[in-house]
Amino acid sequence: MHRKDNLDARLAACEDIMTGADLTEKNMKKAAEIKAYLNFPVLFKNDAPVHLEIGCGKGGFVCGMAALHPDINFVAVEKVSNVIITACERAKAEGLKNVRFINCPAEVLPRYIKEGEVSRIYLNFSDPLPKLGYAAQRLTNPRFLNIYRSLLCAGGELWQKTDNEAFFDYSLQSFAECGWEISEVCRDLAANPFEGNVITEHEQKFMAEGRKIFRLVARPGVES
Ligand SMILES: C[S@@+](CC[C@H](N)C(=O)[O-])C[C@H]1O[C@@H](n2cnc3c(N)ncnc32)[C@H](O)[C@@H]1O
Repeated sequence: MHRKDNLDARLAACEDIMTGADLTEKNMKKAAEIKAYLNFPVLFKNDAPVHLEIGCGKGGFVCGMAALHPDINFVAVEKVSNVIITACERAKAEGLKNVRFINCPAEVLPRYIKEGEVSRIYLNFSDPLPKLGYAAQRLTNPRFLNIYRSLLCAGGELWQKTDNEAFFDYSLQSFAECGWEISEVCRDLAANPFEGNVITEHEQKFMAEGRKIFRLVARPGVES
């Protein structure tokens, strides 16, 4: 991907709403140095519940949600600096006070967020990574579900949307294997819309192509 013009300066200009940095596979060793718990009540100046989006892309979803729900604090995570910058600049342009961003891979989230601090996680159109050799990178692989379990508070839940049926089925199986309870399964969101659905950039594109959107809600049950 073409590196955006003035990316470093633009990232620096978003320091008030973003923390972290690109951690590619090459410099993943640096992750061990991060000890930067975010203090949400201080950052947001309130004790509102925290919702976390992982893989936020250009930020259409998190900005839409933040505008609709001023009583919730949103944290959006994206591993690619070149992409998260668009989300950060959008949140600033829209004057949103209840959004913060972390530029990091989901693998290192426990270095930024303490256990039990999140009440909802969103996975929107995560890369399906169909090749078997990449299964461990899928954001619903058991290694990620264990991280999400630790971040979620009692009663917390995860909402997932995807256009990829094979990835959806893989996710259902992965949640079941890890002892999560699935409370909602929808295999055609257009036919079963729910009030308040905020459409992501990828969702918009897939809907325009007439593709079905799959959705689930899961809660970490008792650890097996
Ligand atoms: C297909 S895009 C979807 C973007 C957005 N959620 C949407 O629905 O339009 C997936 C995004 O997840 C990010 N991503 C993939 N793996 C990630 C990981 N391990 N940690 C953080 N972000 C990740 C990618 O960089 C990409 O921007």
